[in-house]
Amino acid sequence: MSLPSSAVSGILQRLRTETRPYHDALELNQFNQNLEAGTLSEATTTHFLAKMYGFLKPYEDRLRHYTLPPSWQQEQRYRAHLILEDLGTDAAALPLCPALPPLDTLPQLLGAMYVMEGSTLGGQVIARQLVKANIPTRAYFTGYAERTGPMWKSFCQQLSAAAAPENEDEIVQSASRTFQHLETWLNKA
Ligand code: HEM
Repeated sequence: MSLPSSAVSGILQRLRTETRPYHDALELNQFNQNLEAGTLSEATTTHFLAKMYGFLKPYEDRLRHYTLPPSWQQEQRYRAHLILEDLGTDAAALPLCPALPPLDTLPQLLGAMYVMEGSTLGGQVIARQLVKANIPTRAYFTGYAERTGPMWKSFCQQLSAAAAPENEDEIVQSASRTFQHLETWLNKA
């Protein structure tokens, strides 16, 4: 007997629960602290965007090594170029994170994708905070805009379908590592 619905929630539930401490750790970032305190400045926002680019760009370069089926909407999920638009800068001017987690297998890639796609949800919150703080809205945070919810839902469906008992651990481990590498890059590097 197959139990598709519990299998669907299984990987997402595990990812959410097991990576939550890392999501929380990200919030110790200067940008997030200013966000919460309502004291965001343009300078902090610009610095955060530059750092995000440094992680997103090498991640997307790895993603380009894979050709996922059209249902993953892979082409629509590249967002590093939005940061270049926001900063009005040349890619060459921004430092890239030298230490990405290993993304050599599909399960490893999917774990990282979970983290980077999930960040679009926080982006929506940030976009609203920027408006409140009278800081110009940035394309990166707006991201998929009104398609954010559907894009996330659709990603979750694809991920659930791709997950299986034999690759779940690898997906979750890669998501945890991705959060940790991102946190190190944003907060400590
Ligand atoms: C670059 C940093 C961030 C990354 C990589 C990230 C990643 C994620 C991920 C993977 C999820 C999906 C969790 C799930 O499975 O439901 C998520 C959800 C979310 N994140 Fe973040 N996040 C980041 C920053 C933020 C920030 C700064 C905020 C707050 C302003 C935030 C607020 C949220 C919210 C509201 C959700 C949705 C929770 C829900 O619907 O249950 N995130 N984020």
